[in-house]
Amino acid sequence: MHPPRQATGETVVARAPGRVNLIGEHTDYNGGLCLPFAIQLATTATVAARADDRIRMSSDQAAPDDPHWQRYVHGVVTELRRAGWELPGLDLALTSTVPLGGGLSSSAALECAVATALAGLLGIPLDGAGRRELAEICRRAETDQVGAPTGGMDQLASMLGSAGHALLIDFADARSPVTTPVPLPVAAAGLVLLVTDTRVRHVLADGDGGYAQRRRECAAGDRRRLRHVASENDRVRAAVAAIGAQDWPGLGSLMTASHASLRDDYEVSVAQLDLVVETAVGEGALGSRLTGGGFGGCTITLVAAERAAAVRTAVDSAFHDRGWSAPAHHLVEPGPGAALLSAAG
Ligand code: GLA
Repeated sequence: MHPPRQATGETVVARAPGRVNLIGEHTDYNGGLCLPFAIQLATTATVAARADDRIRMSSDQAAPDDPHWQRYVHGVVTELRRAGWELPGLDLALTSTVPLGGGLSSSAALECAVATALAGLLGIPLDGAGRRELAEICRRAETDQVGAPTGGMDQLASMLGSAGHALLIDFADARSPVTTPVPLPVAAAGLVLLVTDTRVRHVLADGDGGYAQRRRECAAGDRRRLRHVASENDRVRAAVAAIGAQDWPGLGSLMTASHASLRDDYEVSVAQLDLVVETAVGEGALGSRLTGGGFGGCTITLVAAERAAAVRTAVDSAFHDRGWSAPAHHLVEPGPGAALLSAAG
């Protein structure tokens, strides 16, 4: 990255997407493989330098009395300063279409939008290496400043996503993950990717939560947890091969097998996620799985375009039958990663 220069004072706007993970769950912090892609739901950060050193921020999503999201902003600013960026005081406004705590990486979208806007404010161009560095800074903001021990997949997907492509990430060398764009021509095959938000909310920023516990269990060598990691890495490799061969039923089966492994070996599913997967597959979807950390959040379903409405209806009515509130559905496509929408002149 170029040496930072002082902010100029203009307003800069940047956008960074949330992500879904097609396959490869709980592998990033275990030195494994994952295959996420950036989605259309995104966070926008508008920043301007202040004459004093205060940081003032607003968000259209958070309740004014819930300062939690502000820790992510302070985390990014702190880590950027540690990396040598000379950041002034800031006015910062956030807007977002990524549901908070919904498993679509609302936090990575927020971090990456802020970091990208601040790069724009300092006139730092973002090439591939710069994007990688920002992804790592954002991961550290989340892990070291906020205390959510996440693995790095979400920030890389948000910074490096590209339209029409998933991003194969190999964390074998955790300090220097290898990324490879993988074309994902689902629309041309008459298929859609349907995200279903169970509206069951998880909290990652909780040192005693299930996510942190799973990390500890893996570090301690728990056999069933590591069996999931090994089988999931095999499924990611097989999924990349299936995509290359346009073997969509094959990809779907791998997704559903991933869900079973997350449910039975890794034990991060909940009844709502299992019901979506079961119902979707029962309605003829090619495959379906929980996406993200689990304990709530979303599923991703691969389904023929003409069957998508039937899957949604069946899932809604299955939820209704159990007295659960209706889930939300989003059709997603692989979209571009973080970008400046307007730069300092
Ligand atoms: C969350 C974390 C990621 C990853 C997934 C599980 O989304 O932020 O780093 O560990 O869970 O695959």
